[in-house]
Amino acid sequence: MEKQFKRYLITSALPYANGPVHIGHLAGVYVPSDIYARYLRLKGHDVISVCGSDEHGVPITIKARKEGITPQDVVDRYHEIIKRSFEGLGMSFDIYSRTSSATHAKTASDFFRKLYDEGKFIEKTSMQYYDEQAQTFLADRYIVGTCPRCGNDRAYGDQCEKCGSTLSPDELLDPHSAVSGSTPVKRETKHWYLPLDQYEQFLREWILDGHKEWKSNVYGQCKSWLDGGLQPRAVSRDLDWGIPVPVEGAEGKVLYVWFDAPIGYISATKDLTPDWEKYWKDPETKLVHFIGKDNIVFHCIVFPSMLKAHGGYILPENVPSNEFLNLEGEKISTSRNWAVWLHEYLEDFPGKEDVLRYVLCANAPETKDNDFTWKDFQARNNNELVAVLGNFVNRALVLTQKYYGGEVPACGELTEFDRATMEELAGIKRSLESSIESYRFREALKEAMNYARIGNKYLADSEPWKLVKTDPERVKTILYIALQITADIAVAIEPFMPFSAAKILRMLDIEKPSWERLGAADLVPAGHRIAQPELLFEKIEDAAIEAQLAKLAAAKEANAAAEAAQNIEPQKDSVSFDDFQRMDIRVSTILAAEKVAKTKKLLKLTVDTGIDQREIVSGIAEHFTPEELVGRQVLVLVNLEPRELKGILSRGMILMAEDASGKLRLLQPNEAVNSGAIVG
Ligand code: 2FM
Ligand code: ZN
Repeated sequence: MEKQFKRYLITSALPYANGPVHIGHLAGVYVPSDIYARYLRLKGHDVISVCGSDEHGVPITIKARKEGITPQDVVDRYHEIIKRSFEGLGMSFDIYSRTSSATHAKTASDFFRKLYDEGKFIEKTSMQYYDEQAQTFLADRYIVGTCPRCGNDRAYGDQCEKCGSTLSPDELLDPHSAVSGSTPVKRETKHWYLPLDQYEQFLREWILDGHKEWKSNVYGQCKSWLDGGLQPRAVSRDLDWGIPVPVEGAEGKVLYVWFDAPIGYISATKDLTPDWEKYWKDPETKLVHFIGKDNIVFHCIVFPSMLKAHGGYILPENVPSNEFLNLEGEKISTSRNWAVWLHEYLEDFPGKEDVLRYVLCANAPETKDNDFTWKDFQARNNNELVAVLGNFVNRALVLTQKYYGGEVPACGELTEFDRATMEELAGIKRSLESSIESYRFREALKEAMNYARIGNKYLADSEPWKLVKTDPERVKTILYIALQITADIAVAIEPFMPFSAAKILRMLDIEKPSWERLGAADLVPAGHRIAQPELLFEKIEDAAIEAQLAKLAAAKEANAAAEAAQNIEPQKDSVSFDDFQRMDIRVSTILAAEKVAKTKKLLKLTVDTGIDQREIVSGIAEHFTPEELVGRQVLVLVNLEPRELKGILSRGMILMAEDASGKLRLLQPNEAVNSGAIVG
């Protein structure tokens, strides 16, 4: 028998307060955790859901340095944005806290101190990179270099974002400082290490033997870490932003962000309730960490070892973690602005919070990486939310208004068909519960939508709009049942789409039923009067989708330009002035342009060089249309040896600027000048 718990503590990975939250975060962590928390609350459990901003760590200090503001300014800005956008999406955290809070500083500091006092750390000096120009040690992301695995020349001291490898600063080739750009030297420094190797046995028994039910991606990653052998991990850093190491002789050192961040879950619980200990220390609490897959090692190996070392704390029962969500076929990237930002979505699609929640859950990367596309978003809204869910609810409510002035009719005798439908509905509840309880939220959402599918079929097959003329008594029963299904929907979809669930309840004008009442035959009693129906979902038009695609296209263009600016070709060998003088470059005017038949790239241009009119064949057909070229002034190398191309004698070359992305731009005088003017 599965263990029964008295209460639940749900944590969601604390987002870094160095940028807003995007759909990848939502699909991976926050939408699933909110579904789980809402479901448990509906079931009447004692549950708290905690989250907050992760406000320490090097990326925050780097951002502050870049913008010329303090790290506190950075986290204040993003904490607000993240907090507000989570509220906007209906995230039901019981507390959204932050790791720069006083409670947290004390909690994390005391935690460290206890382990220190009990000799649970190893103290070690080692040689680490130091920037002499900036007079600072270079922790993690302050070191940039070439990845030894994939050759990416912008890999960080802790990770290569291109190939996803975890790195240590010593592995980077050609390391340099992200602060000053200089080549760092090695200097001796002291740090505290958690000897993870001493916890290997405990972790093996607890995870590999005790939690075979964890998702295979999580279990697999834990197994490969454990099989690879654990090493002591430094839990302090030489930095001036973070929680000071509470030990004498540790000036200029702070707790490593991954040491303090998970303790943030405890601090948040303390800020929420004086009764926090029962959630963290009573084995009858079920602790569940919702995280992204890049956080698995910290939540399954490091944090549990910290809790074990400290003693007195429970361990997580499960650590559901999703794979990654891509966007339009490409990896989501904060630095390349390839993302759908939650705060922007909420502005662009007011009132459509549930649509995003729905799409991200229906398409969640639960077992493999998945793709978010705007076309799919539109299709799911129009074909599923509008056409299935909204359509059923609307029909049930509108027909009740139309036939009975909004008063719920009495249920008459049930037919075979009614009974079969109700049985089918009753079956959904069990599988819906089992899917949610085993963290299969995509499947669960499908089950919840089945109430509407079955409801639609029920109405389509029983055709009350026809029967109303011939058998009005029967229609009463049909609509009574349709209204019960509508109420079922309000309960079943609440964890997934809380705004729409509330709207259905408002339209039915009933209180929220508990989960246990799902499927009850009298959720909306006969004689009760319902409110005026409104549309539950609206169609999303092409224009809205095109606007989003245009936003992404603009981001792509900006990236290409930024990349091109970084990839500058080295200077070529010198040429003499005479060599240069031998080139005859003239301002010329394009008189005519046409595609060269049977080629993709070539255009035949007729140009007025001032000297003559001549033909030039140019490989620019993929960059310019003939129409946009005619009439333009360009620069032409007129004394280039003539060459025959596709049977046309090409006499000269149009000069262009080409960036590293291969994009071409015409060069033209800054104001019109006569054709034939000499360039030099
Ligand atoms: O990966 C991240 O975004 C981290 N800020 C998650 C921290 S989770 C917890 F440990 F606080
Ligand atoms: Zn790499």
